[in-house]
Amino acid sequence: MKVLVATDKPFAKVAVDGIRKEIEAAGYELVLLEKYGEKAKLLEAVKDVNAIIIRSDIIDAEVLDAAKELKIVVRAGAGYDNVDLAAATAHNVCVMNTPGQNSNAVAELAFGMMVMAVRNFYNGTSGTELMGKKLGIHAYGNVGRNVARIAKGFGMDIYAFDAFCPKEVIEKDGVKAVSSAEELYAACNIVSLHIPATAETKNSINYELVNKMPKGGVLVNTARKEVINEAELIKLMEERTDLKYVTDIMPVAHAEFSEKFAGRYFATPKKMGAQTAEANINAGIAAARQIVGFLKDGCEKFRVNK
Ligand code: 3PG
Repeated sequence: MKVLVATDKPFAKVAVDGIRKEIEAAGYELVLLEKYGEKAKLLEAVKDVNAIIIRSDIIDAEVLDAAKELKIVVRAGAGYDNVDLAAATAHNVCVMNTPGQNSNAVAELAFGMMVMAVRNFYNGTSGTELMGKKLGIHAYGNVGRNVARIAKGFGMDIYAFDAFCPKEVIEKDGVKAVSSAEELYAACNIVSLHIPATAETKNSINYELVNKMPKGGVLVNTARKEVINEAELIKLMEERTDLKYVTDIMPVAHAEFSEKFAGRYFATPKKMGAQTAEANINAGIAAARQIVGFLKDGCEKFRVNK
């Protein structure tokens, strides 16, 4: 069996070494395709492999057509919006993710970005502290839970909204569960996004919703760029010069955001949330183990396509 690690944004070397150990201990071969840039290289690399480990790498129908021997794709991470699930099912390919494995890394980055925003991007002027501020966690999954845990240490007043998580589960963590996204944005000084990119959530963070935030509101995005209605956020930030937007996923309209909102906007050059050695090791090794479990024992835990 041949397992391909296809990561345009590579894992830390220590994680690749760990993945290799798992794959070779199972008697399989590991091949590595990093920083490949063009899709043609991916199409060539997938031709004879039985399993693929990816990150945000795009696995669409064309890739699946080229991968004639493929049985399983594991997205080392949480969000699998980069994989065409219907096409994978049609090709009889199992798709899995590795939930929770990189969530602390993403949560820590959300706080790095929060501190930067409330300290006015370190420009020398007096900012504010996080202590005592109202933090809104938009979606209470693995990352949202870690954000809540860290926010307690900062002494924040924590709120959350999750359309799919029962209020009791949220409140058990000492977090105030609100009934709608509108209520969350209206209550909180800082909102941290942790929703996946789905048909329902795409463009859902719009003018009307963000405009509910109190004066001086900060929107933190370590989730997906697709959930933001960029044109409406630009319009709102033009009207409300008190708002700040910090994001780990560069918007399509990055140049316009940068030009119009200097001192109120920041985007990392590359998505950095899960880019720690620990997260790479956790997610990468989990992916390798899931592949071995699937190929040897047919284990389908964490399968996301039916
Ligand atoms: C995820 O969905 O797991 C995170 O967004 C991290 O994505 P990455 O592996 O592309 O950095």
